[in-house]
Amino acid sequence: MPVISFANAKGGAGKTTAALLLATELAHQGYRVAILDADPQRWISQWFELSGPQHNIEVVSEVSLASLQGHLRELSATSDYVVVDLAGARDAVVTAAIGLSDHVMIPIQGCAMDAKGGAQILDLIRLMEEAGNLKVAHSVVLTRVTSMVTTRALLTIKGLLSARGVNVINTPIVERSAYREIFDCGGTLYGMDPAKISNLDKAQENARAFAAEVMRLLPVKVIRSQTPRRFLRLVRNAA
Ligand SMILES: Nc1ncnc2c1ncn2[C@@H]1O[C@H](COP(=O)(O)OP(=O)(O)O)[C@@H](O)[C@H]1O
Ligand SMILES: [Mg+2]
Repeated sequence: MPVISFANAKGGAGKTTAALLLATELAHQGYRVAILDADPQRWISQWFELSGPQHNIEVVSEVSLASLQGHLRELSATSDYVVVDLAGARDAVVTAAIGLSDHVMIPIQGCAMDAKGGAQILDLIRLMEEAGNLKVAHSVVLTRVTSMVTTRALLTIKGLLSARGVNVINTPIVERSAYREIFDCGGTLYGMDPAKISNLDKAQENARAFAAEVMRLLPVKVIRSQTPRRFLRLVRNAA
């Protein structure tokens, strides 16, 4: 059960949007997904209240420092993936969630170039590694990328981060009205009317590509027991 947290010390970086896109895409593909809403502003919880029950999605609200570990322990039996949406802060809950994650996604707005909030999380992860001897896998995901941002500009950002040893997800999350609509209308990209939402197909394609990369980084271990077949073969050979 991979645990994936979305962290950036600043609000408005695109954490909640990216977290919800990943969670709904994984659920659409048949995985059981739990979203831990660890942001006191409760954006994910409000989305869930508006949406009603969603196939393969469970939302845990009001996650605190005291309850975080217990939630993860309980969910390990029932979820294939856990997605944690964090507040735009660098507090104890954010630190604990990072420490308990298999991978931390750090959304940074591709156009704003204001990567300060992201850098604070990178510093925190480095500190945990140096002072706490705890290695946390992490990647930067560029968000709200518009057609104005050229491939070359993105490659430059990627190069700068790579030089500092930071992995960057190849698929940037594009600026799409569909991604705002999800929070206004509830549900997922797959329940929207393509006649009403512009470029819905492109939005779905972008979310799919992002989720595919995350799945490649963090595959769910499929435990297929070979024991019965091997046992039968042994019995047959012995006979
Ligand atoms: N890819 C995107 N396309 C369009 N709007 C976006 C996108 N990402 C974020 N937004 C909008 O930007 C604002 C902040 O995004 P949000 O995901 O809530 O950031 P955070 O969780 O980091 O505070 C919201 O109004 C959201 O709808
Ligand atoms: Mg948020």
